[in-house]
Amino acid sequence: MNHLTRRPRRNRKSEAIRSMVQENQVAVQDLIFPVFMMEGDNLAVEITSMPGIYRYSPDRLLEEIASCVELGIKTFAPFPQIEEAKKDRFASESKNPEGLYLRTISEIKLNFPDVVLMTDVAMDPYSSDGHDGIVDNGEIINDATLEVLGQMALAQAQAGADIIGPSDMMDGRVAHIRQVLDKHAFYNVSIMSYTAKYASGFYGPFRDALDSAPKHGDKKTYQMNPANSREALIEAELDTQEGADFLMVKPALSYLDVIKTLKDNTNLPIAAYNVSGEYAMVKAAAQNGWLDNDRIMQEVLLSMKRAGADIILTYFAKEFAQLMKR
Ligand code: PBG
Repeated sequence: MNHLTRRPRRNRKSEAIRSMVQENQVAVQDLIFPVFMMEGDNLAVEITSMPGIYRYSPDRLLEEIASCVELGIKTFAPFPQIEEAKKDRFASESKNPEGLYLRTISEIKLNFPDVVLMTDVAMDPYSSDGHDGIVDNGEIINDATLEVLGQMALAQAQAGADIIGPSDMMDGRVAHIRQVLDKHAFYNVSIMSYTAKYASGFYGPFRDALDSAPKHGDKKTYQMNPANSREALIEAELDTQEGADFLMVKPALSYLDVIKTLKDNTNLPIAAYNVSGEYAMVKAAAQNGWLDNDRIMQEVLLSMKRAGADIILTYFAKEFAQLMKR
């Protein structure tokens, strides 16, 4: 018999030992739950490409939030589906305090003052072009878009947003939004920047959920090229200088290396967005009986923590919290 001094298997010999030496954990408090809303009463429409995820009318969204709070989820990232008739080139509806999004944000904060709301700043759900910025002659105009984003962020802060989430990838938006917020004394409203947001095929189901796909062209002139990682450091450096409170990488699963790079080279908390397509892949395989849903869900979330994510935005949030409760 061999004499082996080092036997790593000793640290795997029982559940108690394994859990004692476990390096990373996913906790419900690390999760942000993205939720979809639509106009109407008493409506919950399942999103075909995202089994188990619904678009809710405001009344039903409040019920959904109540049941998630019960499970320990504290932070939500709401997204609106805007009626086509309300969309225009300048995303004007995004500033309407009586519109679906801002009205519902206020209502959530009124009913759940302790819930943290991270609101989305980008033009696409409200844009007749389906782009994140103003389109002129087929081009996405950066600096004019900043004005719209600043106004949108301000309106969200006024409605009660705790964290502003600019997901648009325009240059200079974090600095501009910070300036507008501070000018109106919203010093304590945070910014979670979508720092390294890639031009990804993984957003398909989300665009189905909101009918927000670009009407023409793609998002490659503002979202990052999936082939690049060093470029993420440029974005991280700028977002940090411009006053971001959190840096985000999106998508997450195919970009774990980028999460790790930002974690190793920056000091702000890092968020990972486990996007719609990543959720859809797991659900599709699980529904076919090809993968075990609960195991894969945990393994996927754990991989993001292991890569260095402090926070995970995930459509699995509620399911994960339910699993932890059992
Ligand atoms: C748009 C936005 C997108 C997502 C969040 N905010 C889609 C896009 O950029 O087209 C995607 C989220 C997901 O796929 O889960 N500003």
